[in-house]
Amino acid sequence: MIKGKTIVVGVTGGIAAYKSCQLVSDLVKEGCDVHVVMTANARNFINPITFETLTGHKCLTDTFDRDFEFNVEHVALSQRADLFLIAPATANIIGKLANGIADDMLSTMCLAADCDVIIAPAMNTKMYVNSIVQENLEKLRRHGFVIIEPASGRLACGDDGKGKLPDIPVLMAYVHRQIAYGKDCRGLRILVTAGPTAEPLDPVRFITNHSTGKMGYAIAEAASLRGAEVTLVSGPVSLAPPLFTDCVRVQTADDMFREVTERLPQTDILIMAAAVADYTPESYSEHKIKKSDSDMSIPLRRTRDILAYAGAHKQAHQTICGFSMETRDLLENSSRKLSSKNCDMIAANSLSDSGSGFGTDTNRITLITREQTRQLDLLTKSEAAHRLLDELLSLRNNTGK
Ligand code: CTP
Repeated sequence: MIKGKTIVVGVTGGIAAYKSCQLVSDLVKEGCDVHVVMTANARNFINPITFETLTGHKCLTDTFDRDFEFNVEHVALSQRADLFLIAPATANIIGKLANGIADDMLSTMCLAADCDVIIAPAMNTKMYVNSIVQENLEKLRRHGFVIIEPASGRLACGDDGKGKLPDIPVLMAYVHRQIAYGKDCRGLRILVTAGPTAEPLDPVRFITNHSTGKMGYAIAEAASLRGAEVTLVSGPVSLAPPLFTDCVRVQTADDMFREVTERLPQTDILIMAAAVADYTPESYSEHKIKKSDSDMSIPLRRTRDILAYAGAHKQAHQTICGFSMETRDLLENSSRKLSSKNCDMIAANSLSDSGSGFGTDTNRITLITREQTRQLDLLTKSEAAHRLLDELLSLRNNTGK
């Protein structure tokens, strides 16, 4: 999605500069036209030849470089760039930019940039928490710069704390969020549920299902990349919370009911991708249930249906999408859920389709609305998530929401 974009990567003089090589390489692999600008100090850590080899472009370092054909080229490049990313950014470049100082190639180009600028600070933790640095970062934020929070851990200087350059996938996620997608979900508050629920019987046992949360997490991520304000209410899964979303972890169907219904009035789109337990043990034993010689059965009570509740209390600005997983009569059963739960769309998938179902990275979903039934091809869960959002947005458009 970032193929063909022009990205200027600024590298300043910190030990994390070595990680920028991987960043630049990953951007090039995704088809970007990458130009690297280094400060004089960055050259003490990395030889420009490394970046020149990776990008196929001369590495820019000095505003008065005589080899550089057009000395106004830096301004032209700044203006045609789709994104400017400084990683690692030292306290020095942060201080310069915050105060409008342009005394070398990087600070000059950055101030002339006509695109979004992302700053990834990396430095000693004491420097990072220094109130002057924090004030400078705050000032940059106010001026529209995107600041990536540094990671915590053991720093090169031996200290432990905040100040590490985040891992490259995190930096790439910021790049994607900034330029990979149109922002057609901006202004929308989207609530997504994902994963299974776990219904405890005693301190040792619980009833659950095979859901891994991959589909719901893919939807939450896609919506946030497209500019939505996303809350993800997740059952117990082993996935890391997606960046740029507010992730609320729950265990039981009752917990999920509470967390979702609390947020429902402020939600524009609800997407219930979670596999919520329909039944939960009637009682919970404080102590481990001991076996006896006879068989046993467990009394279960119905849980509250979150989707049906949302459908029954739907407000004019809301769009509601449920999921339906079936082993037979997919369309019939799913269409019934669409009307019985007063949803606007059901994303149906069949466990008997190869490539669909629990734990896979792909899915073949059928999107059912009152007007039409559209079967999508076998897609990655991320692609399927984007198609699902496309459909929900066009549904909202058609109904003037
Ligand atoms: N759902 C819910 N609250 C529940 C149970 C399910 O919100 N207590 C939601 C799921 O998140 C999903 C949809 O309802 O979006 C699934 O509908 P449902 O009728 O519960 O599906 P199944 O459990 O598969 O139905 P059945 O048991 O009738 O096959």
